[in-house]
Amino acid sequence: MITGYGHFVQLAESLQWDEQAIDLTGDVEAWSKLESEERDRVLGLIAGFCVGEMAVATHLGSFEDRATTDDSMAGCFRAQARDEARHARFFDRVAGEVVGIPGENLAERLDVLRERVSPELLELFEERLPTLAEDLAAGEKDLTAAVSLYHMILEGVVLTAGQHALLAALDRCSVGMPGVHKGMELVLRDERWHIGFGSRVIQSADVVSDEMEELLQQGMKAANAWGELIDRQDIEKVEQLHKRRLKSVGIKFW
Ligand SMILES: [Fe+2]
Ligand SMILES: [Fe+2]
Repeated sequence: MITGYGHFVQLAESLQWDEQAIDLTGDVEAWSKLESEERDRVLGLIAGFCVGEMAVATHLGSFEDRATTDDSMAGCFRAQARDEARHARFFDRVAGEVVGIPGENLAERLDVLRERVSPELLELFEERLPTLAEDLAAGEKDLTAAVSLYHMILEGVVLTAGQHALLAALDRCSVGMPGVHKGMELVLRDERWHIGFGSRVIQSADVVSDEMEELLQQGMKAANAWGELIDRQDIEKVEQLHKRRLKSVGIKFW
């Protein structure tokens, strides 16, 4: 079956980077010099990414397992899982080395970081996503519905809003944090192909699930779950982008 997902795998291959190679020494120094409001905002966003990237990295296996009829699609989920694991490791480095959150690994640090994350974001990444992955594995949800939540809502709306907000927050900080900025840009670059791939999966599906309109609304609500960490106008920008993206893949809600 020729579906043309192979070029996403090639793209992913060409975009590989090593989170260990990013120099965070300037960021470690900068951290203690930040104003407390600056620190609170950056830490809130970093905590959200630690929770989000850990969750998406964990649950992508069910997607690959369901893509049994299409090797190139399965290859994309595999390449994406490798990216997500790297993203989780990068944000864990930031949490541990720059922020100084104690713990041996991200799982341990998450106990502290979760306190910085809103209940709405926790619910999306640590309840809805695992439930979806279970339903997908059990054959109770199809891949289209799963990609709708994962790629279109969680990545396309929630994480995208957070990524732009973090870059903007770093740009506004009184002291520069070049390593975190660089890593965030590289994560964002990976996320673009993930969302492009997800859009392609949705576009190729004949049937659009009835649940999608609800997912759209929930995605909009979820972008707001970052609370004051993200400016209203940035949320609106992501919402517009999301609507345009769904429209371009042939989904009409309005
Ligand atoms: Fe990611
Ligand atoms: Fe992603």
